[in-house]
Amino acid sequence: MKELSRIAGEVRASTTLAVDSLAKQMQAEGKDVIGFGTGEPDFDTPDNIKAAAIKAIEDGKTKYTPAAGLIDLRKAVAARLKLDLDYDYDYTQITIASGAKHSVFIALMAIINYGDEVILPAPYWVSYYEMIRMSGGVPLIVAAGEEQNFKITPEQLEKAVGKRTKAIILNNPSNPTGMLYTKAELEGIAEVCKKYDLYVISDEIYFSLVYDDKEFTSFASLSQDAYERTILINGVSKSYAMTGWRIGYAAANKQISKVMANYLSHSTGAPGTMNQYAAIEALSGPQDGTEAMRKVFEVRRNYIVKRINEIPGVSCIVPDGAFYVMMNIQQLVGKTLGGRLIENDDDFAVAFLEGGHVAVVPCSGFGAPGFVRWTYAASMENIREGLNRLEKFLQE
Ligand SMILES: Cc1ncc(COP(=O)(O)O)c(C=O)c1O
Repeated sequence: MKELSRIAGEVRASTTLAVDSLAKQMQAEGKDVIGFGTGEPDFDTPDNIKAAAIKAIEDGKTKYTPAAGLIDLRKAVAARLKLDLDYDYDYTQITIASGAKHSVFIALMAIINYGDEVILPAPYWVSYYEMIRMSGGVPLIVAAGEEQNFKITPEQLEKAVGKRTKAIILNNPSNPTGMLYTKAELEGIAEVCKKYDLYVISDEIYFSLVYDDKEFTSFASLSQDAYERTILINGVSKSYAMTGWRIGYAAANKQISKVMANYLSHSTGAPGTMNQYAAIEALSGPQDGTEAMRKVFEVRRNYIVKRINEIPGVSCIVPDGAFYVMMNIQQLVGKTLGGRLIENDDDFAVAFLEGGHVAVVPCSGFGAPGFVRWTYAASMENIREGLNRLEKFLQE
C-alpha cells in the first residue's frame, strides 16, 4: 500500500497519556496505583451546568449550530471576557471549538504557512510542539530553566527570532511549570512581538487558578497592538470542571476569526449543541464554584510544595498558578532506585510507577529533562499518600 501521510506519521503519542495508560493498565491488573498524570480537576461539573445541558436536550436543541458556535455562546464568552478582564470583543471575534486544545490547533491552521517558525518557550505543553508540526510549522524552542523560574526573557526571544518566525505560543499560567508571567515581563515580550510582527497565541486556560493574591495579566490587554496580534485561547474545561464537554474558544481580530470559522465549517463543525448550552450556563451563571476550586487547589499546592522540599534528593520551586508542580530529580541521576539505574526523568517515572505505584509525568517530553510533573488536581488524600510513597521509595 502507498505510504501514509508523512506529517501525520511523525506525530508522537502524548507523553501525558502514555504514563496515564501504563498506570491504568497496572490498575486494571489490580495494582494500587495513584495517578498524577493527566491534568483535570477532580471536581464534578456543577449541577446548574449539567441541568442546562439536560434542558437543551429536552427542548430539542439537538441540531447543528453555526460552525463558529451559537451566537448566544459567543456573546456569553464576550460578556465573560468583559467582566473578568475588561475586554471589548464583539461576538463575531469569538470562535468556539471542541476544547481549548482544538482552539490552539485552528489558530495555528489560520496563521501558519509551510515552514513558518513558531517560538515555543520550554518547558512547554507537549501538544503545542506536535500541533505546530501538524500545521506545517517548525517549532523554535527557547529554553527557560528553573533558575529563571521557567520563564523566557525578551532578550532570549529577540535572539531566537529569524526571517521565517511567524508566531509565539505563550501559556500563562503554564502547564507544566505553573509559573505566571508578570505584567512587566509580558510587556517586554510584547515589545519584541511588535518589533518583529509576531502573532501571539496566548493560551490562558488556567487564568482563574492563580495563588498568593498574584495578579493575572491577559496578553491582549497590554496594548492595542497586542490586542490586534493576539489570539486569546480559553475554555470551560479547567475553570468549571468541564474537561469532557469539549468547549474551548478563541478571541481574535475579525480577519483571523473569519478564517478560523471557515476552517471549522469544513472540518469538525461546531461542538455538540447541548454542550454549548451548558457552556453558556457556565459562563453566565454563578461563578463562586471557580473561586471555591481555586482555594482548594491553593491549599493542595502549599502542601505538595512543602512536602517535596522536605524530602532529600528532590526539590521544586513554588508554582504561581494552574495545578502542576515540576519536581527536580537531578540529584537522583546516577542512583539505583527500585533496582533501576536512574539516568534521566523517564527512568525515574518508570521506576517510581513500578516500585512506588505512583504515576508522575517525565518532563523530557515537555522540553525539561531532569524534572517530573505532579498534578495537584487530585484529592488531598491521594496527594498525601503519593508523597508518602515517594518518601518511602527514595529511602529504600
Ligand atoms: C495549556 C493547556 N491548554 C489547553 C488544554 C486543553 O484544554 P481543553 O480540555 O479545553 O481542550 C490543556 C489541558 O491539559 C492545557 O494544559
